[in-house]
Amino acid sequence: MSSLAELNSLEADGLASLAGCADEAALRVWSTQHFGDKGLMKAALGAIGKIAKEERAAYGQEANRVKVALETAYAAKFAEAKEAALQASLNSNPLDVTLPGRTRPRGRLHPATQILRQIYGIFADMGFQVYRTREVETDEMNFEHLNMPAHHPARDMWDTFFTTTPGVILRTHTSPGQIHVMREQHPNPIRVILPGMCYRNEAISTRSEIQFHQVEGLAIGEGITMADLKGTITSFARRMFGPERQVRIRSSYFPFTEPSIEVDIDWPKDDPNRDRLTKGTGWLEIMGAGMVHPNVLKAGGYDPDKVTGFAFGMGPQRMLMLKHAIDDIRLFWQNDLRFLRQF
Ligand code: PHE
Repeated sequence: MSSLAELNSLEADGLASLAGCADEAALRVWSTQHFGDKGLMKAALGAIGKIAKEERAAYGQEANRVKVALETAYAAKFAEAKEAALQASLNSNPLDVTLPGRTRPRGRLHPATQILRQIYGIFADMGFQVYRTREVETDEMNFEHLNMPAHHPARDMWDTFFTTTPGVILRTHTSPGQIHVMREQHPNPIRVILPGMCYRNEAISTRSEIQFHQVEGLAIGEGITMADLKGTITSFARRMFGPERQVRIRSSYFPFTEPSIEVDIDWPKDDPNRDRLTKGTGWLEIMGAGMVHPNVLKAGGYDPDKVTGFAFGMGPQRMLMLKHAIDDIRLFWQNDLRFLRQF
């Protein structure tokens, strides 16, 4: 590399090959070829010392001009390649920052959760704690300890889902929870509610589902009477349904309470579906209840000569139907948003 002509062809070839570089990687290779330690430009500049004295100044000047020209061209080409790569990535993955943000739909609690929490609140004010027990139960807990030995005809009141394990069933009511909590707490007094899902192998209809919530209540202590049960239930109903709604208490039968009652609430008089939903009576049952049977107290570890107690089992879904004049209990588990969004 010793003549001006060679410098000129270095410039011309350099610019031509630079123009042919398609991307950043090719540009880096080009840069090493021209400006690297063993690169063409270094060699051309290094040759200055070997140039004849009278030509040296002109050669040196020209060499520097070519170096600056190539550097400038390279910088421009490199910036262009970077911009092209950015554009390509923006096009393949477009982001329009002028779009308004997406509003997040606000969730809400399922009506079943809402009413359960309302029930917890009312009973909490009366001193009842929430206690949870299992949904998969033994036959013993669901029936035997509740004063229903094997083959007791009252078992027919609860159409049962059996599992493939003998003696293991899905609980048909929350009442087995009474035994669990008594066995844990005896001989201390008890005031609890036991909410949870129950299962019955029933024909599904507008008033009956195969799964539903119940809220069991249990109070055990000295001197507890039927008056306490009636007072507790009535004040609960007043707060849940309002003072204008009527509460009716009827005598009934359950193997695990003696005496036993059932509690009804009057259906809103102005609702056109009143007759159909109450089978013409004007009332809907919301719970069974009674004084805990001595055999049940014994099964729970208490001495029926020392303590008495009351128990109740209520259906929150029934109460929701009453509160909002809902005509089909199946709506609760169908997950139809048009229904659920109303609550
Ligand atoms: N377990 C009863 C039922 O499911 C309701 C009930 C609970 C009755 C407690 C009396 C006492 O029908």
